Amino acid sequence: MKAQFAVPAGARHSRILGVGSYRPRRIVDNAEVCRHIDSSDEWIRARTGIVTRRWAGPDETLGVMAEHAASKAVAAAGITPGDISLVIAATFTHLKQTPAIATEIGHRLGATGAPGFDISAGCAGFVHALALASDSVRARGGHVLVVGVERMSDILDLTDRSTAFIFGDGAGAVVVGPSDTPGIGPVVWGADGSQADAITQSVPWDALRDDPSQPFPALRQEGQRVFRWAVYEMSKVAVQALDAAGLTAADLDAFVPHQANERIIDAMTRSMGLPERVAVAKDIVTAGNTSGASVPLAMDALLASGRAVPGDTALLLGYGSGLSYAALAATLP
Ligand SMILES: CC(C)(COP(=O)(O)OP(=O)(O)OC[C@H]1O[C@@H](n2cnc3c(N)ncnc32)[C@H](O)[C@@H]1OP(=O)(O)O)[C@@H](O)C(=O)NCCC(=O)NCCS
Repeated sequence: MKAQFAVPAGARHSRILGVGSYRPRRIVDNAEVCRHIDSSDEWIRARTGIVTRRWAGPDETLGVMAEHAASKAVAAAGITPGDISLVIAATFTHLKQTPAIATEIGHRLGATGAPGFDISAGCAGFVHALALASDSVRARGGHVLVVGVERMSDILDLTDRSTAFIFGDGAGAVVVGPSDTPGIGPVVWGADGSQADAITQSVPWDALRDDPSQPFPALRQEGQRVFRWAVYEMSKVAVQALDAAGLTAADLDAFVPHQANERIIDAMTRSMGLPERVAVAKDIVTAGNTSGASVPLAMDALLASGRAVPGDTALLLGYGSGLSYAALAATLP
């Protein structure tokens, strides 16, 4: 008879146990951004809702920002770094092809020996990572640290009128651990790879190697195309994620979508038919679009504002380059 494998005993359910964030010191207003592009504070506020964003200084590296956010999440979860069994980092602004930033984050935090890996799914990365963390806890137990961390300012072309004013830097982290009751719903995720060119790096690294006279690679996007896709397709994904969890909009206390544009958030809120009482995250106003960091940053800010409280039922939705998306219902920590 063949030997049987031993398999780990996972947790019956998973939930977010703690959240933490780090916002860079320097606040950048629209007037500063408009020094390089033909635009105005009025246009940026009206078209995106953004009033300020934060750009990281040289000492506020991905590792440093992630460590700050992660330590707060670990403390809020009531565990110690040594209890972390896996680190997943969602980022696409780690400018070193290898090693992953996740192992540096684990080391900085004192999560000695914990495995770590990065995932790249653009602005949808954090919710992808959260879904994997939830599955990992249910398959293997333990506590998974999920960090969304970006230095978007490193890949911005300050003279590009369609991106320069949108993006900001920061880090947000959560700890996912075992739970007696369901705390993270099934993920609804997917991608439309036929639209991979809608948000992309201006030149690949090998093209820069072959012709170093080119400008450093920057983020490029077709803003209006992404805007339309987000408004029409992502509201449907939000409703599918509620369905998958056996919920309706009426069951929600909070909505934490990716912070890409206030008008996208408002359009989704309307088309989902969210009741007025649902707290909708609008971190975009003072953070801009922080890509992989936007959902945990917005969640933390919503809780800090008191508009949402621990135990509330929230819908989390990330979307961006790929074009990729991921949405799930979760109980707020
Ligand atoms: C980028 C974005 C803010 C542009 O807003 P928009 O309403 O789509 O603007 P449009 O591109 O249709 O341009 C409308 C007008 O504003 C002008 N305009 C474009 N950028 C401008 C700027 N930075 N400042 C001032 N005017 C600008 C255009 O020239 C155009 O003028 P016209 O009507 O005279 O031709 C919006 O498309 C967006 O937020 N997209 C989603 C982007 C995103 O966050 N992606 C990241 C990953 S999710």
